[in-house]
Amino acid sequence: MKKGEKIYEGKAKILYSTEETDKLIQYFKDDATAFNAQKKGTIKEKGVLNNKISSRIFELLEKEGVKTHFIKSISDRDMLVKKVEIIPVEVVIRNVTAGSLSKRMGIDEGITLKEPILEFYYKSDELGDPMINEYHIKVFELANEKEMDIIKAVALKVNKFLVDFFNKNGIRLIDFKLEFGRYDGDVLLADEITPDGCRLWDKKSGEKMDKDRFRRDLGKIEEAYQEVYKRVIGN
Ligand code: TMP
Repeated sequence: MKKGEKIYEGKAKILYSTEETDKLIQYFKDDATAFNAQKKGTIKEKGVLNNKISSRIFELLEKEGVKTHFIKSISDRDMLVKKVEIIPVEVVIRNVTAGSLSKRMGIDEGITLKEPILEFYYKSDELGDPMINEYHIKVFELANEKEMDIIKAVALKVNKFLVDFFNKNGIRLIDFKLEFGRYDGDVLLADEITPDGCRLWDKKSGEKMDKDRFRRDLGKIEEAYQEVYKRVIGN
């Protein structure tokens, strides 16, 4: 599949057209940003690792019956995907307190929640992805009720699978962010699932193995992504 023109460049990925109008190539960059791109840097080989991690996880999810945009990995940094219309709602699923939840609720990080919490954010770099609820989503027509039913059910199903998958590989899945897209009358899981958009803590040591190492200047960022890759691919 040949790369056509660049149609969109995000903070960590670039989308290219292909010869087929319903397919895109998703290219993973080494660029990393945090705090709505106020902090910028690169993480060496992140693009390669994230392409492989996301490909593996999407493959596993497809086997579980989750419909995703993933078709196949076509090179170190390139993934062939279905061309979806991204729904401008970022879905965060939380199992353990951390990050903005701890801040908002005034609660220490690391406390296991009695059940997962779903949060929605309006996908807008300009506005800094503000938190919204299902009324905003309905009234501003970001997604309809049928789409939201699918999104919520799939998010919880993905969470259940990933908690168990990471747990088997010695990792505690704290929280993560998902994006969905419209495709042929359906709603598909889109974007990526990588340490860029997940909080992953080593079960034994409690060490952070995700982009918080970059956000919080904790060092050993490349090593952390490499370790997640090893555990995800080995299993
Ligand atoms: P938060 O605690 O900062 O709200 O982040 C919750 C989860 O969502 C965390 O795993 C990181 C991920 N996330 C993104 O992928 N993109 C974002 O822009 C933000 C703010 C969080």
